[in-house]
Amino acid sequence: MAMWAGRFSKEVDEGVNAFNSSISFDARMYKQDIAGSIAHATMLGEQGIISMSDSLEIIGGLKEILADIDGGKLVFDPNAEDIHMFIEAELTKRIGDAGKRLHTSRSRNDQVALDIRLYLRDEIKEIRALVVKLAETVCDIAEKNYDVIMPGYTHLQRAQPITFGHHLMAYAQMLLRDIGRLDDTLKRMNVNPLGSCALAGTTYNIDRERTSSLLGMTEPMANSLDGVSDRDFCLELASALSICMVHLSRFSEEIILWCSWEFKFIELDDAFSTGSSIMPQKKNPDVTELIRGKSGRVIGDNMTLLTMMKGLPLAYNKDMQEDKEAIFDAVDNIKLCLSTFIPMLATMTVIKENMRKAAAKGFINATDCADYLVKKGMPFRTAYKLTGELVALCIEKNTTLEELPLDDYKQKNELFDSDVYDAINLDTCVKERKSFGGPSPDSVLLQVKTVRKKLEELCNG
Ligand code: ARG
Repeated sequence: MAMWAGRFSKEVDEGVNAFNSSISFDARMYKQDIAGSIAHATMLGEQGIISMSDSLEIIGGLKEILADIDGGKLVFDPNAEDIHMFIEAELTKRIGDAGKRLHTSRSRNDQVALDIRLYLRDEIKEIRALVVKLAETVCDIAEKNYDVIMPGYTHLQRAQPITFGHHLMAYAQMLLRDIGRLDDTLKRMNVNPLGSCALAGTTYNIDRERTSSLLGMTEPMANSLDGVSDRDFCLELASALSICMVHLSRFSEEIILWCSWEFKFIELDDAFSTGSSIMPQKKNPDVTELIRGKSGRVIGDNMTLLTMMKGLPLAYNKDMQEDKEAIFDAVDNIKLCLSTFIPMLATMTVIKENMRKAAAKGFINATDCADYLVKKGMPFRTAYKLTGELVALCIEKNTTLEELPLDDYKQKNELFDSDVYDAINLDTCVKERKSFGGPSPDSVLLQVKTVRKKLEELCNG
């Protein structure tokens, strides 16, 4: 018989019961549900809304239930409607009437809004720690490869020479922003809906500041309708996770390209690759492909949540029960992705020679050749056009700008001299790109230092 059966003349249809039940996926919030109930019962006792002895009995009972679930002695009843009902019913089974007083001045609407916040608060901390670890790993590899020259691309066409360290540090910047988004989300999430009750607050003299401080939350939410209706924190987290997954997916895509024979810039460790059931030569980057695939899944979770919320009138609607599977899926999957990606990255081998070889082809020093003329007084647009003609000449002669004879240069323009070879030398091209945020080896080392400092501040601040 359901807890709310008083008003009903019939048992609910079995199929509807199963359809309605959320315990299969909300049971994972049992710790948070119990923590919320303990705070609520403490406050009810202190305010004299229930007796001190009932309050203590409730708290004792809840603690025992927690220990029994943790210890595997109490298993969730799959027929229970949800985790909130399950724990309350279990409490009453154990301590009798006092248990029936726990739900005074509370509703499952504010209860569930609280539980998800508490649950995700812990998850954000775990995810954040993983993103920090990934950013540190990126810094370590960038530092080791601060002067390794590789082609930089636009349109996946060789564009200008950069360093591998620089390329990696671009991801470090994205990860720093991901951490910032997680922190922002946590700030807005860590407020207390408890005391909103069903939707309209309560006539009891509750102390919402007290439950907030007991739960380590910054303040009670200021509007009871908003308290039970708001799932912005899920939307915000799912968005932040989607963006982070997009970063992981782009990084994965590049790794997939880099370890192909066409690039061979890196080699993944055997422990992080898989073979083919038919082609003996194959070594596949499955991990990165799965991460790329799972990014679609997390983005889908984000879309599920936005779509689920967009048409809902205030306050609680049962649609909102759908929030949990989506946000839990996003959280579970990003943790899986991050914790696999980090050791995969840390163990990959960088094939410097191939990066350099690729940078030496494709005329990626053409801009530098034009800049050489500009520095000798020619307007950039003229120099740009003239260099284009030189590139065409090289293609015709099947050679490179480095190997084109000085006579050919001079024939094109008398500003050219033998120092052009130094100006378009790959090492010079990269070393001289020392504008702030640029790819020069010095700049990479500075970037690594700055990001490490920021990470330290983020972890200690
Ligand atoms: N299992 C429900 C959920 O996850 C709990 C809230 C139920 N509230 C209600 N009024 N039926 O959303």
